[in-house]
Amino acid sequence: MTETLILPADEAGIAEAAALIARGLPVAVPTETVYGLAGDATSGTAVAAIYAAKGRPSFNPLIAHVTDLEMAARIAILSPLAHQLAGHFWPGPLTMVLPAAERSPIASLATAGLTTIAVRMPAHPVMRALIAAVGGPLAAPSANASGTISATRAGHVARSLGGRIALVLDGGATAVGIESTIVAVEPDRLRLLRPGSITAAMLEEATGIAVDTQDNGAIEAPGQMTSHYAPSKPVRLDAETARQDEFHIGFGSIPGDASLSLTGDLNEAAARLFDLLHRADEASAGAIAVAPIPATGLGAAIHDRLKRAAAPR
Ligand code: TXA
Ligand code: MG
Repeated sequence: MTETLILPADEAGIAEAAALIARGLPVAVPTETVYGLAGDATSGTAVAAIYAAKGRPSFNPLIAHVTDLEMAARIAILSPLAHQLAGHFWPGPLTMVLPAAERSPIASLATAGLTTIAVRMPAHPVMRALIAAVGGPLAAPSANASGTISATRAGHVARSLGGRIALVLDGGATAVGIESTIVAVEPDRLRLLRPGSITAAMLEEATGIAVDTQDNGAIEAPGQMTSHYAPSKPVRLDAETARQDEFHIGFGSIPGDASLSLTGDLNEAAARLFDLLHRADEASAGAIAVAPIPATGLGAAIHDRLKRAAAPR
């Protein structure tokens, strides 16, 4: 049992976090999407400590976070198409799966032995400052116990990983609220592996290349397992009304016990999704019901998360 400290994400907090990471200990840190559990991506033991804290099956590879294109090019091969995407969406909530660089310093445990690597250049100033302070790429999965609801507040991290990590940097609620879009960048093709706030339509518009969104049943992003983001209670979707024992998460004209967005705004709904799932999970009701949400645009990413949260486990 480790005592979990929550510190403000200011200069002193970031320095403390960098010192822990240098000792191989993972630290929870805000990004613009969700909180990440960050460790030195070039150290096998640091990466192992991330997996251990999350209880994550180690076949599931991690995203390497970088501050700039030069750092990205040290670990991955960026094609002209990758550069085009970087120009449009980095820094920001887009993760690209790219061929790993030949002499990549990334620990093989972080890529689970794959020949590709997932790379993201985050926009959040705290995550960027931490990467800069450590001086190299940080591996960071979402800061929650494996298979459970992602964290969009420091308190969510403490609830999920308290006693298992040394430090959470508190940077307030995250802006986007759902994890980054993951796209596999192939020579002349893009495949959407995980929907996010950067939609397939946005990727197509930026590149002029059609995005393959077909799931085809294979678990391409190994973390995209059927049951994921799971609260401790059953979840029922498309619920216009709630049953007696359900905490009702509302949307638009259905207010529920708490609403993702009273005005039916999908951006607001994405930002509040995991927070309300945490609240519903902590409420006294025995189950969770979620109001219908449109599947268009950002709604596709929200549906993806809800479908997994509701999946039988
Ligand atoms: O927004 C985010 O992406 C957050 C923040 C912290 O950056 N991170 C995050 O990491 O969501 P994680 O580990 O929860 O999800 C990473 C996903 C997993 O589904 C993993 O299987 C997939 O990325 N992945 C990693 N490397 C891959 C690769 N080489 N090929 C395909 N999928 C990969
Ligand atoms: Mg995750």
